[in-house]
Amino acid sequence: MYNLLKGKKGIIFGALDDKSMAWKVAEHAHAEGAVFTLSNTPIALRYGTLNELAERCNSEIIPADATNLKDIENVIEKSMEILGGKVDFILHSIGMSLNVRKKRSYDDIDYNFMMKTLDISAISFHKVLQTAYKLDAINEWGSVVALSYIAAQRTLFRYNDMADAKAMIESIARSFGYIYGRDRKIRVNTISQSPTLTTAGSGVKGIGDLLDFTEKMSPLGNATADELAQYCITLFSDLTRKVTMQNLFHDGGFSSMGMSEKAMHQYSKGFDNEQ
Ligand SMILES: NC(=O)c1ccc[n+]([C@@H]2O[C@H](COP(=O)([O-])OP(=O)(O)OC[C@H]3O[C@@H](n4cnc5c(N)ncnc54)[C@H](O)[C@@H]3O)[C@@H](O)[C@H]2O)c1
Repeated sequence: MYNLLKGKKGIIFGALDDKSMAWKVAEHAHAEGAVFTLSNTPIALRYGTLNELAERCNSEIIPADATNLKDIENVIEKSMEILGGKVDFILHSIGMSLNVRKKRSYDDIDYNFMMKTLDISAISFHKVLQTAYKLDAINEWGSVVALSYIAAQRTLFRYNDMADAKAMIESIARSFGYIYGRDRKIRVNTISQSPTLTTAGSGVKGIGDLLDFTEKMSPLGNATADELAQYCITLFSDLTRKVTMQNLFHDGGFSSMGMSEKAMHQYSKGFDNEQ
């Protein structure tokens, strides 16, 4: 450990269980010397195992539905009370699509579900940023990170309306990043992570094949949730003060590939077996 976050305070949204990206970020942030609060929905608190993490990290849990402005305000105000002042970092690790869950295909979208997808998975990021901005809750040179996926920019079969949500969250990071940088010297970025076997990840049908494909296409292989957490720590640290308004790929090189030797090999084997 490097003590990269010694003396830093934060808020981590979206840890559900020990597979969650946010869970890993919390563990690494704790190990690097940060103190922080944790937040998730009341339902997630009932079904997940967040208490265990909170105990280990000496953190308090503040329940919130991230689509609800009052809830977000409460999380941010309570966090400042508990932590004794403004925070230095916020992680938004929240995503959910009812169209994906209910297996509605992209050409048979339920629009009420779609509005929920956008609200939960993208607009909630704006709500967190705007609320923190109005409450002046983040210290100068603070850092806010949300998680994205390459389907924001390229079409990946079955990612459905989450692709639209991710396109929006990347755009929000740029738009708010300008305002937060200009006015308060605060960084706002998204990390575009490899497919990962978490609860949200497992909801995408065919994730097993996708993981195998991206593993074979990426020169460094898929990035794990632990590796994502390490990358996140660097963005919360003082070592990346001038990185803002970026979508940063953390995917073993996948996003720059067209075809790899391994994938070519696998593809030709597939043809051999075809009738
Ligand atoms: N798993 C992957 O393959 C992958 C890849 C790239 C990006 N991501 C992104 O990473 C983030 C975290 O997902 P994960 O893979 O760790 O899965 P996860 O299921 O562990 O985390 C998703 C979290 O969102 C929370 N959530 C859902 N609705 C909410 C609401 N209304 N208010 C507050 N919280 C709510 C859930 O309770 C859960 O904790 C998401 O933004 C996801 O899209 C995941």
